Order: sequence, then C-alpha cells, then structure tokens
Amino acid sequence: MNVISVENLSFRYRRASDYALRDVSFDLRKGEFLGITGPSGSGKSTLCLALNGIIPNSIKGEFQGHVRVRDLNGNEFDTRETPVSRLSTVVGLVLQNPDSQLFNMTVEDEVAFGLENLGLDPNEIERRVRWALETSGLRGLENEFPPNLSGGQKQRLAIAAVFAMRPAVLVLDEPTSQLDPLGREEVLGLLSLLRREYGITVVLVEHHSDYILRHADRILVMNRGRIVLNGTPSEVAEEAGFLKKLGIKIPVSLDVSYELKKRGRLKKLSITPEDLLSELESSQD
Ligand SMILES: Nc1ncnc2c1ncn2[C@@H]1O[C@H](COP(=O)(O)OP(=O)(O)OP(=O)(O)O)[C@@H](O)[C@H]1O
Ligand SMILES: [Mg+2]
Repeated sequence: MNVISVENLSFRYRRASDYALRDVSFDLRKGEFLGITGPSGSGKSTLCLALNGIIPNSIKGEFQGHVRVRDLNGNEFDTRETPVSRLSTVVGLVLQNPDSQLFNMTVEDEVAFGLENLGLDPNEIERRVRWALETSGLRGLENEFPPNLSGGQKQRLAIAAVFAMRPAVLVLDEPTSQLDPLGREEVLGLLSLLRREYGITVVLVEHHSDYILRHADRILVMNRGRIVLNGTPSEVAEEAGFLKKLGIKIPVSLDVSYELKKRGRLKKLSITPEDLLSELESSQD
C-alpha cells in the first residue's frame, strides 16, 4: 500500500523567479525507509513541507500536481484539500533545529501538547506520553525544561512529540545536522528502534549520503528541484561519480572503491569499510 503518492509536483515560492520543485513524482510504500539526499538548494526541505501539506496550505505559491497521503485506516487525502492540522496526524514532520519545535515548559507537556490538540481523552494522552517518553529514552526527564536538555535529547523529544500522534509517516529533514556525534547516534538509534519495533514508515533527508546508503530501502537524489536518481542504495552507489559531481558527500569507502574501480583495480563498488576490505582481499587472489 502506498502511504504517499506524489504526482508531477512542481512548486514555486511566491516572488521566487524559479521553481523549487519540478515535476517530482514518486510513491512511498507502507513500512518503507526512504532516504533523500541532494546538494544545498535542491528542494529537499521544500519537498518535506509539501509532504505534510504546509506547502501549499500555509506557505503559498504556484503549485502544480498532486500529493496524496493515506492514513493508517486507508483514508486518502489530497494535501491541497486537507487542513494541515488533519495532515499532521498522517505525516509527522521533524525539522533540522530542535529548538524551533519545542515551546512548552516541560518535557511531558511538549508531548502532551499535540495530543491535546487532537482532542484525545486525558487517560489516552497520559498513556501515549508515557509510551513516547519511554520509547525515546526520556523517562525520568518528564519535568525538565526542554531548553536545558542536550541536543540529542531535544531532538528525541521533538521526534517523540510527533510519533506520539501515531502518524503513518515520519518525515525528518536533516534531524542530526546540528547535533554532535553522540546526539546523532541517539537520534539515529531512536529511528531504527521505531522502524524495528513499530514498522513506522520513514522519510529521512540527509545531506551526507553515508547513513541512508547503509540503511535506507530506497534513495531519491535531488538536484535543482528534480529527482535525478531513484533507486536502491546499491543502484545509487553505482552512480558515485555522478553523486560527487553534484557535490553530495559520499562514504569514504565508496569514494576509495570508486577511484580504485576507475583505475581497473577493483570490480565492485563498496559502501562500507567491511565490504571494501573483503573486495580488496578477494581482488588480490
Ligand atoms: N521561503 C522561501 N521563499 C523563496 N524561496 C525559497 C524559500 N525556501 C527555499 N527557497 C528556495 O527554494 C529552493 C529549494 O530550497 P530548499 O530549502 O528546499 O533546498 P534544500 O535542498 O532543503 O537545501 P539545504 O540542503 O540547504 O537545506 C532554493 O533555491 C531556495 O533558495
Ligand atoms: Mg533543507
């Protein structure tokens, strides 16, 4: 089942001379982990905003095509015809900077806030807050003031507040780019737990292609508002030279194996150091 279908989507911001998205089409299947990468300004964030209806409902501009999303009961919504408040329970969006998403006085209130807006009854809210904080490893911090948390904790809280609403899809726009390595590990660990335990559908935007090449089911590469590649990690890795030309950071092992392959010293490209080592060993036989 597709949870998101994007069909010939083009979007131009008001007063912008150029389109930020050009004829973008793809489907997202339930349970899939989709990675999106591309150089700065290629339209990744614009696409995220279009997936949960902020574009074109709150941020207006010239919009063509369709974005259709499906909730867990199978109801379909065209984002152009559905209020953002309704869409946010279907497609949850987590942004780059956790500070811009946290505005309550306590950790607990931060998660409860969205649930209260859904009009859930207090017992259900309490149950979900406990579950979300437990899952995201924030138990014991219920009464903390969010600005006092570490970067990784803040971002995990922002994610908890979104997944507590039980959206069909979690969209994360460069959620670790402002975190230190430990915070990044915490957030990526939470994502893999949510996928493993709850089979949640994930769209993860990352500037650096390393993590998504290792973990995503499929990757979209964007450039100047268009999808220029749509394939499995190994299909996308085959285009290492093209990725480098676009200015996308690739894993060191992929870069090294790409250079060796170009010189005829290796047959296959490798994404991880382990694969590269075994390729090197077998090429010496
Ligand atoms: N609010 C806005 N008004 C006008 N133009 C915008 C607006 N936001 C983004 N743009 C333009 O739209 C294009 C796509 O921007 P977008 O932020 O989606 O790219 P991105 O791939 O997310 O980049 P980054 O990697 O830097 O986050 C860029 O040319 C950008 O300048
Ligand atoms: Mg962006």
